[in-house]
Amino acid sequence: MNELEERVADEIRRRGPVPFSEVMDLALYDPDFGFYSTHGSAGRRGDFITSPEVGPLFGAVIARALDTWWHEMGEPDPFVVVEAGAGAGTLAIAVLAATPACAPALRYVLVESSALLRDRHREYLVLESAAHAFAPDREEVVDRQELDMPTGPIVVSLAELPRVEAHVVLANELLDNLPLDLLERGDDRTCEVRVGLDGDRLVEVLVPTDLSIETGREPVQTAAARWVREARALGGRVVVFDYADTTASMARRPWTDWLRTYRDHQRGSGVLDDLGSQDITCEVAVDQLPRPAHDTAQADWLRRHGIDDLVAEGRKVWEERAHLGDLEAMKARSRVSEAEALTAPTGLGAFRVLEWEP
Ligand SMILES: C[S@@+](CC[C@H](N)C(=O)[O-])C[C@H]1O[C@@H](n2cnc3c(N)ncnc32)[C@H](O)[C@@H]1O
Repeated sequence: MNELEERVADEIRRRGPVPFSEVMDLALYDPDFGFYSTHGSAGRRGDFITSPEVGPLFGAVIARALDTWWHEMGEPDPFVVVEAGAGAGTLAIAVLAATPACAPALRYVLVESSALLRDRHREYLVLESAAHAFAPDREEVVDRQELDMPTGPIVVSLAELPRVEAHVVLANELLDNLPLDLLERGDDRTCEVRVGLDGDRLVEVLVPTDLSIETGREPVQTAAARWVREARALGGRVVVFDYADTTASMARRPWTDWLRTYRDHQRGSGVLDDLGSQDITCEVAVDQLPRPAHDTAQADWLRRHGIDDLVAEGRKVWEERAHLGDLEAMKARSRVSEAEALTAPTGLGAFRVLEWEP
């Protein structure tokens, strides 16, 4: 047993079988041994590829969407955008590199619970203190306004959702990583799937519960629903990108298809194996969340927000600069393959984009 498993085992000896959500929380976020606290991340050098890690195109489309909402909201200044579960900051970097029209008004708040990943935010982003971003020095603001200088973009990195009014809250592949519980239909009743001990092995233990489900195994995603309510409480538009299904559909599928582990770009082993060494992720049961105003396939959402125009722009730049073979030409060319990956009907394009209106 590794040290984290020893701790879980002690807890089980003390209290009996513990909820799966507690074990998943420790496996991913324990400050000393959790996957995200010690090494795990998205990216080519990481453990899995997410839309922002495909390349800068996803962030460029988000930048266009931010501009659309900013104009619709009457161009507020400051314009507060919170990105939760920001990982190493790749999406923020791409959004800012796309120089959206809202940039002078933009307060971009990265929220990332892992201190290790938060440390990476300052590698490519100029961070300012939250105090400065949310309550800037009056005199400085007045001076800048008089000189017609923009006050933004101001970028802040935090461990938790801030208690400020936000115009937009974004989260890419966050909800699938929030701890969940499991229910299973037995022969004559429903049980909760808890984690117990068999000798020195962590094992599933079925504990009868008063809750009732009809068939198979189901996730109970209380933390994901709570996160959506907290994000909505900031008062703005909430936009979540993730792989998702419904509870009823998941109950009919093999549970190991929707509750998965990853490490080094490969599917990992069992969810209770070598705790802290692999990612544990679950498709999001949309019906367990507050009802979104829009639920769109990622491919359609990206098209609605202009991915095709960005690809056409890229093609043009490539045609003009191919003979130079410089970085700009290469970046332009890569837009075509990035768009293919981001809209692939059986891959990222099938992800859901869930939106809650203010
Ligand atoms: C699958 S990664 C996605 C990272 C990034 N959004 C991307 O798409 O590449 C999920 C991230 O959410 C972070 N996270 C988990 N729970 C969080 C929470 N409650 N608040 C902020 N970040 C959280 C994890 O540490 C991890 O970096």
